[in-house]
Amino acid sequence: MIRRSQPQGTLEGFEKVFVPEKIIVTGGAGFIGSNFVRWVIENAPNAHVVVLDKLTYAGNINNLAGLPEDRLTFVKGDICDKELVESLFSEADAVVHFAAESHNDNSIANPDPFLRTNVEGTYTLLEAARKYGVRFHHVSTDEVYGDLALDDPSKFTEDSPYRPSSPYSSTKAASDMLVRAWHRTYGVPITISNCSNNYGAYQHIEKFIPRQITNILTGKHPKLYGDGLNVRDWIHVEDHSAAVWLILTQGAIGETYLIGADGEKNNLDVLRSILRNMGKDPDDFDWVKDRPGHDRRYAIDATKLKTELGWRPIHTDFDAGLKSTIDWYIENKPWWLGEKEATEAKYDATGH
Ligand code: NAD
Ligand code: DAU
Repeated sequence: MIRRSQPQGTLEGFEKVFVPEKIIVTGGAGFIGSNFVRWVIENAPNAHVVVLDKLTYAGNINNLAGLPEDRLTFVKGDICDKELVESLFSEADAVVHFAAESHNDNSIANPDPFLRTNVEGTYTLLEAARKYGVRFHHVSTDEVYGDLALDDPSKFTEDSPYRPSSPYSSTKAASDMLVRAWHRTYGVPITISNCSNNYGAYQHIEKFIPRQITNILTGKHPKLYGDGLNVRDWIHVEDHSAAVWLILTQGAIGETYLIGADGEKNNLDVLRSILRNMGKDPDDFDWVKDRPGHDRRYAIDATKLKTELGWRPIHTDFDAGLKSTIDWYIENKPWWLGEKEATEAKYDATGH
């Protein structure tokens, strides 16, 4: 039976587990969205997945290759397209919303598509969820909380104030606010997750780790911004997917959960690990100019997710995860090679 809503902030009186049968995954051809689709197909045998993806430069239909056709429907389209969104929502019982413009550097060069997709797109989906009573899981980022000093002993929690720094993170913060307002005002059954930096296979080569791996593989120097001491809290993408499924199916309506795997590392250390793992001199890279407004440090306290829902990361050995990520890019050159020149040309234009 499809259950379409739960009371605010509680599971009392309801069976503990929400079992969606038809799930829309927006952005399901992107890095994390496609990992989540694979995760659902492998772990939730009764769920049918409908991917709604515009296939921007960041989306790739091949990310879904090999998945069973009777479990997956792919719809190429824009989350801002109200008519299309309504037609899909009228037949679904849950949406997991990954679709976004996701790269900070792009948002600094041109914020326009970030406002449209991240804010207007989320609004369009929320209105359809309200109309058809669809359960809504919103995938967001720890960047909504701004940054921490390197010597600050604290980490982000669900109660940290919103202080986004970049056009990207401010549009994600705006989308979180819309989701909360649609819950409080209209009773849309929502959950929100804010996750730290993901790594793993199928990540677009504009992002830090795959950019450096593919630079080395194409004879270019890796590029490190600023003083290289900015800290990111790395989590394997499969741990993120598992957490999102848990929150969708067992999270309390109206609640926010932070997702992170205690993976704080500075960029210099990560880059040197990549270079060492690829048999290169750990100092063989270029220092390049810093990102404007560059957040110094992110760190997640995932206590709520662990204590209330029992989530634990599986990929706790970062070096092992990094090695298998490097291997994936070595073994899947055709997946990224065609994009390399254009991606680096964008960076050349901004001096990065
Ligand atoms: P990505 O850039 O790899 O993928 C985004 C996907 O969304 C692409 O397939 C793209 O085609 C699609 N898309 C973009 N605009 C669209 C539109 N208007 N309509 C339909 N589809 C559209 O992004 P990602 O890194 O996989 O991130 C996915 C989500 O997770 C984002 O919401 C992001 O904010 C969030 N997130 C990412 C990270 C991370 O480390 N990458 C961490 C925390 C949260
Ligand atoms: O924290 C979650 C966020 O993580 C997500 O919301 C974003 O979608 C995702 O892109 C990521 O944002 P970052 O800006 O942290 O990721 P990025 O891979 O762009 O950069 C990681 C760090 O590496 C950052 O401190 C900037 C630095 N960097 C990046 C690139 C591309 C470099 O030093 N050199 C580079 O070439």
